[in-house]
Amino acid sequence: LHTIGRGSLVKCLQKVDTFLHRNIGTNVVAVQEEKNGFKSLNAVQAERQEQAERSVLISCHSRTNEKKFLKYIANYGDIQKYFFYESYGMYAVVEFANQESVASLFEGTAIPSISHESVVPFKSRLLSMRNLDSVDLPNQPSGKKRQAQTSIPINELIQRLSKEESIDQQITSLTEAYQLTEENCRLRFLVCSLLKDIAAGFFPECTIKPFGSSVNGFGKLGCDLDMFLDLDGISGRNATIPKSGLFLEYQMKRANLERIVTQNILSVIGECVDQFGPGKILNARCPLVRFAHQPSGFQCDLTANNRVAMKSTELLYLYGELDPRVRHLVFTVRCWARAHGITSSIPGAWISNFSLTVMVLFFLQRRSPPIIPTLDHLRDLAGPEDKSVIEDNDCTFVSDFSKIQLESNTETLEQLLCEFFEFYASFSFRTLSINIRKGKEQNKPEVAPLHIQNPFETTLNVSKNVNASQLDRFVALCQESSWLIQQNNTAPSRDGTKGKATITPWGVSTLLLPSQVAGIKTRKRRKFEPASERIKSLLESLKNTNQQNQS
Ligand code: GTP
Ligand code: MG
Repeated sequence: LHTIGRGSLVKCLQKVDTFLHRNIGTNVVAVQEEKNGFKSLNAVQAERQEQAERSVLISCHSRTNEKKFLKYIANYGDIQKYFFYESYGMYAVVEFANQESVASLFEGTAIPSISHESVVPFKSRLLSMRNLDSVDLPNQPSGKKRQAQTSIPINELIQRLSKEESIDQQITSLTEAYQLTEENCRLRFLVCSLLKDIAAGFFPECTIKPFGSSVNGFGKLGCDLDMFLDLDGISGRNATIPKSGLFLEYQMKRANLERIVTQNILSVIGECVDQFGPGKILNARCPLVRFAHQPSGFQCDLTANNRVAMKSTELLYLYGELDPRVRHLVFTVRCWARAHGITSSIPGAWISNFSLTVMVLFFLQRRSPPIIPTLDHLRDLAGPEDKSVIEDNDCTFVSDFSKIQLESNTETLEQLLCEFFEFYASFSFRTLSINIRKGKEQNKPEVAPLHIQNPFETTLNVSKNVNASQLDRFVALCQESSWLIQQNNTAPSRDGTKGKATITPWGVSTLLLPSQVAGIKTRKRRKFEPASERIKSLLESLKNTNQQNQS
């Protein structure tokens, strides 16, 4: 380093990088973006999409002999990675080292001939492994290779967390139990890639990208798969038209509204999935087609023209990558909210997971010193390449993580969780709006029980759907949980008895047990009696009853 100097070394490394890319095919986007240990969401998407294109999904018998299966598939090319999972039957995801192997696999694949039925001869990378010999038991896919694609039930989680030694460990353990696995993530990209093959029949240059919690870092095993049909990359949109003389343009259907065009496109693709592919349409109202993808077990939401949601996904991903406490806290709060019915899988007047995540981010911006920067700050750090304006909305923010300087906040997860509940237990929802762009509460611009400014479409409220009673329940639960966690913040000492020692819920586990205040309906009633007092007495009476029952 002394002899050649730092600048020359960097140049030299860049040359090696270029050489590797040209000669060995290293994903240069990923290499460049991975500097400073962070990968941008775009780099992750590009890498995962490329993996998915080399992959196939194979339905197989639950007693499939793993060795024979792999030996057979390996006839068509080198296998880079594979795993088995169960979802209404056993499936295998096989990723080849080269995409050509998929084509050669197709050459050796037959169209089913069924004596009394007809088939739609639609070929895809969803295949079935058949075996004319009797199926053999030994060497089935081992438990490790048979990946579960759903999260553990809440009771099991409560038990697991109760065994941890500290609240910080409980929170980390919760994230580990709930977050998407590597395999689940691959499966999500593969489903998008399979759907892209269908859409590409009409729009060969399209891409289908996952967004939302499948890729923003906050997805829980079993969450829906939000997909975005991207038609912007279709060539010819920016073709230069001569000033005079002849030129050709495509003859295309027109409609008054973009919304109608989107709806027509989505409904045709949805219909194809339903008629040719393995999906069942659940709902096809603009702006999305919702269908169940049977082989993966995912509920899929396909949308188009949804660039702002893609930007929100990118932003959430960035915040989650900046500090590990962000993801841990979001996972814990989301799990807590789901356990108490604050959030729901059915749309309604409840707080959405997206709103809840923004509330956590806002809380982390309000710490002293702040754990994450404001969106305005991220916009100020943006370079020209980051500029993004979507339908007149400024969606610009920095993509180079190395430009972001974080402040040194050393609060523990336990402190943050307690503070989160306190913060929202006493937040002035009546007058103030939550605003992650400014990182400061603002006066509410309109009447709505809960006002969370949409980070990019700043005139909109992301929690417009939430009614007063749902907000009341949230506040009451924050008050209860704040008190509960302070009362139960130390792990009970384990008695020496081996084996069947009873596990007492403590710390985060107690927050996931059924609440005593969920029935609170109106704000008025709380005026006469401080909620904390009422909760305290309710809990005390419950504790006493429990103790009496146990003794
Ligand atoms: P779960 O599916 O509940 O795990 O979370 P999710 O983040 O994927 O939420 P959802 O499927 O409801 O929405 C998908 C994505 O759309 C979110 O991550 C956001 O990027 C975006 N989104 C959802 N709701 C809103 C909203 O009210 N306003 C805005 N601007 N974007 C939203
Ligand atoms: Mg989602």
